[in-house]
Amino acid sequence: MTVLSVCNHKGGTGKTTTAIHLAASLGLSGWRTLVIDLDPQGFLSHTMGIEAPPSERTVAQLFDPEVDLNALPFWERSGFDLLPSSDTLTKRMRDLNKPTDVLWVREALQRADLPYDVVLFDTAAAVTVYSLNALVASQHVVVPVLPEYQSVVGAEQTFQTVDLVQDKLNPLLESRWFLLTQVDGRKRIHRTYKKYLREKYGPAVLESVIRTSTALAESREGGTTVFDHDPRARGARDYANAADELVRRIRGETEEQDREATGAVPGDVPLPNEVVNS
Ligand SMILES: Nc1ncnc2c1ncn2[C@@H]1O[C@H](COP(=O)(O)OP(=O)(O)O)[C@@H](O)[C@H]1O
Ligand SMILES: [Mg+2]
Repeated sequence: MTVLSVCNHKGGTGKTTTAIHLAASLGLSGWRTLVIDLDPQGFLSHTMGIEAPPSERTVAQLFDPEVDLNALPFWERSGFDLLPSSDTLTKRMRDLNKPTDVLWVREALQRADLPYDVVLFDTAAAVTVYSLNALVASQHVVVPVLPEYQSVVGAEQTFQTVDLVQDKLNPLLESRWFLLTQVDGRKRIHRTYKKYLREKYGPAVLESVIRTSTALAESREGGTTVFDHDPRARGARDYANAADELVRRIRGETEEQDREATGAVPGDVPLPNEVVNS
């Protein structure tokens, strides 16, 4: 199972849009995908048409050691399943103040061994115990970044947080990538920050870019994704390309590790379903 967080300490950078559309795109490609909404404000859950769910069917369950995640009915959405956020998270944050409280989600996933190929976390714009739980449980982090000053500063701080988490809490965290979002090629400032990030971070910036797309904003109404709403829109193509690139990057790293471990020559990497069924 591949576990991925979408994270940036700055708001409005396209985290929620990215989590939804990467998940939908991976789902369309045959990956069994679960989205976990760890943002206490729950915008992703609301966007996907889930308002005030009973807390027994939300992320609140991840923080209860008695709960068997395998027995939970997740919410089926187009292309992926969803474990929505809960309005109890904000209240419970005060109690989650021990150093070990960043481990809840990783332990819940390890206990459960869920039947998914990919788990994708959406996180809030702040460094909270919930976003740390997501990073501690992840192997990869996608940092959506709007090529403008505040978003770039937030994204660079997020990279530092990810490095710290990797160093102190989660040695299995392999990679973090910037994904440029809401890019408008006509804006000089966008071109400037794009160049800045590529020069400074090289391959840690995904080649794929998400351009501004009104279809992405519109598709957020009514619990659908752009793939249901307007599959030929720019936003659909851009997220499909970004998801493909992510899969290649994740597989590339795995191939490299396989080679290191076995000395084997890389061959065709099977699709996730083939691995599970074989
Ligand atoms: N590529 C895009 N083109 C146009 N609008 C976008 C795009 N990505 C996100 N948006 C819009 O920008 C706003 C912030 O996006 P969101 O994904 O909620 O960011 P975050 O989760 O980081 O706060 C939303 O209104 C969303 O519809
Ligand atoms: Mg959000």
